Amino acid sequence: MSRDPLHTKLCDSLGIEFPIVAFTHCKDVAVAVINAGAFAVYGAAPHSPDEIAADIKWIRERIGGKPFGMDLLLPAAAPPGGTIDELRAQIPKTHVDFVDDMKKRYDIPPPKGRVEHFELGWVAQDRARAQLDVVLEERVPVLAFGLGSPAFLIEAAHERGIQVWGLVGKPRQAKRELEAGVDAIIAQGSDAAGHTGSIGTFSIVPAVAAIAGDKVPVIAAGGITTGQHLAAALCLGAAGVWTGTVWLPSRESDVDIILKEKLIAATAEDTVHSKCMSGFSMRILKCKWTEEWERPDAPPTLPAPYQLLLGGELHQAVKDYRIEPFMTDAAGQGVGFVTSMKPAREIVFDMVDEAREVFENLTSDEPVATPG
Ligand SMILES: Cc1cc2nc3c(=O)[nH]c(=O)nc-3n(C[C@H](O)[C@H](O)[C@H](O)COP(=O)(O)O)c2cc1C
Repeated sequence: MSRDPLHTKLCDSLGIEFPIVAFTHCKDVAVAVINAGAFAVYGAAPHSPDEIAADIKWIRERIGGKPFGMDLLLPAAAPPGGTIDELRAQIPKTHVDFVDDMKKRYDIPPPKGRVEHFELGWVAQDRARAQLDVVLEERVPVLAFGLGSPAFLIEAAHERGIQVWGLVGKPRQAKRELEAGVDAIIAQGSDAAGHTGSIGTFSIVPAVAAIAGDKVPVIAAGGITTGQHLAAALCLGAAGVWTGTVWLPSRESDVDIILKEKLIAATAEDTVHSKCMSGFSMRILKCKWTEEWERPDAPPTLPAPYQLLLGGELHQAVKDYRIEPFMTDAAGQGVGFVTSMKPAREIVFDMVDEAREVFENLTSDEPVATPG
């Protein structure tokens, strides 16, 4: 009998059934995906160390000993430390005035309370370090990094039995990560949601797969929302897929229903690569905030973390008061294929069934039907 194309070395290395990794900021989505036989990495970057410890416990209680991962952001450019007020005091007045004017023109009130963006670990390196200590202490099975090189902590992680995954957007970064000793490489194309480089998924994945050879599994990311994408990623040499956008409008997801509807209606053309959210180049859903920063009289965006701190109160107010024109999130170009609000479990199974069908059609003797 021929080998199951969906049973890859990523499945063997993690003890999972399907080579699908969900990146999600929602614990319920993570649990549903894991219990469906795939793998989930929980995005812990926006949380305090205490919250991260509680989240790990919560997830563990619901997955019966199955493996899971946590993701943190460690950009080398983050300031070494400082309170939010100290960091915000460094923002130029021109930028503060630009955002204040926007708040006035769109009637955006102050946020109701805590500003979630101010909790992000990478606002300063001391915060990111405190988050990392919790994840190491808790010995989560997989630790992934969407930004920054994990080289400095690989030894400490391996001593605790933790796999370390690095995310790359360029072949030379893949070489560096391999030399540092990562256990898997996520090769992410510019189609992806969030912080990306400029190389498309179809070019970066085979390039990184060639560099990794048999050493470690390569996981493809960027614009992957269907089983057709999953099958294509495996054909490009990946051992699995790393996905983000597809889970945002899932039934379990804690994303606001207004934003879920925007995502379901969106096409690939409704996302934009912009530095206006975090200061890093990031693919997000177009909204009033992205539009305003494209105005000819807009000031240049600030470097991270200052751009995020500049917009933090406005973004929180948009969330608190559900101000639709400004509602946005990271979203990849595969968003156009996300057309309904399905349970996460169904998303996993549909992706698997569709990928199997693609492989069966490729090897079938039956003539393939042509359109028309
Ligand atoms: C709403 C959202 C937030 C994200 N936040 C992070 C993050 O905090 N850390 C990270 O490593 N990646 C983050 N990403 C990127 C994902 O890890 C992943 O690389 C990306 O979503 C893959 O592309 P896709 O969305 O086209 O599937 C985020 C993605 C989305 C959709």
